Amino acid sequence: MIRRSGLILLLTLLLVPTAQADPAAIQRGAYLFALGGCASCHTDADNGGAPLAGGLAMATPFGTFYTPNISADPQQGIGAWSDADFIRAMRRGISPEGEHYYPAFPYTAYSLMSDAELHDLKAYLDSQPASAEPSKPHQLNFPYRYRSLLGLWKWLYLDDRRFQPSPDQSAQWNRGAYLVNGPAHCVECHSPRTWLGGLERKRLLEGTPDGPEGESVPGLTANSNPEFGHWQDEDIRFALETGMMLDGDFFSGSMGKVVDNSTSQLSEADRAAIAVYLKSFAKPSQ
Ligand code: HEC
Ligand code: HEC
Repeated sequence: MIRRSGLILLLTLLLVPTAQADPAAIQRGAYLFALGGCASCHTDADNGGAPLAGGLAMATPFGTFYTPNISADPQQGIGAWSDADFIRAMRRGISPEGEHYYPAFPYTAYSLMSDAELHDLKAYLDSQPASAEPSKPHQLNFPYRYRSLLGLWKWLYLDDRRFQPSPDQSAQWNRGAYLVNGPAHCVECHSPRTWLGGLERKRLLEGTPDGPEGESVPGLTANSNPEFGHWQDEDIRFALETGMMLDGDFFSGSMGKVVDNSTSQLSEADRAAIAVYLKSFAKPSQ
């Protein structure tokens, strides 16, 4: 009897630290989850989908992607993944089985995130309810079905580099640069893409007529969008918090989801940093 209870105690000691993550890490992870706008794609809220169960259809010129289940379910979700599996997926777009992910999953932006942030984000995902909803297969046109082709794509378009602050700029500007190009991935929608679907690096944030869901996405620089040059810092902060634009209209389409799932939940300081960064190259030319 004594040996058995000793064994149970030993097992409890071994299991508890992995089963109960640090609540502070979970809280930081919840913020990163909002920052990354993960719910906009991995929760199909319009069709009553369970949180993190995926299933959102994303129509693109390459075919239709269905976002996978990233809940804590060990079979259908990512509950059985190690932190290393998760970091590799988020930064290098590689699955635990070694397959390439499509850039419809914006890992090109998430690759700027630090190890510590990705550990916290995983702790948050692990703490959320599991859904046993199986992920749906994508329906892609020939030849995009072949994941092996993505190796070439990544060689062209994936940097896999952490954020490098610019020493000539303020801490606030650098925070904004990190958010816009990294976890908040504003660049992913607000920039033109090449025919291969990669970001045109020299024209970041210049807008595109062929955004996600076939929308036209305005530029966030004064040259590409002179109207935006008239937005003041506080107009940007207000729009990111409430969804109301300078002209009094509310954002529609995917930007509405960005505000609901992401920017409305950010700290005032982070919205201010985004505004400062955008305004630094959105000044009207005369
Ligand atoms: C713009 C939509 C979009 C956003 C935003 C997004 N994802 Fe995804 N994600 C996808 C798609 C599409 C895939 C499937 C890629 C594939 O099959 O090649 C995916 C795949 C994944 C996978 C791999 C799952 C598996 O079963 O292999 C993980 C993990 C993941 N995303 C986590 C996240 C996290 C965490 C966030 C927020 C920080 C996030 N995603 C934000 C669209 C998105
Ligand atoms: C999923 C795609 C997507 C992402 C990600 C995204 N946006 Fe947008 N954004 C849009 C679309 C589409 C519009 C046009 C909305 C409309 O006119 O109703 C827009 C409009 C805007 C506008 C209004 C500009 C104007 O002149 O009307 C601002 C400002 C803006 N976005 C800022 C941001 C910032 C900052 C981020 C990152 C935190 C971001 N967006 C991320 C799709 C996106």
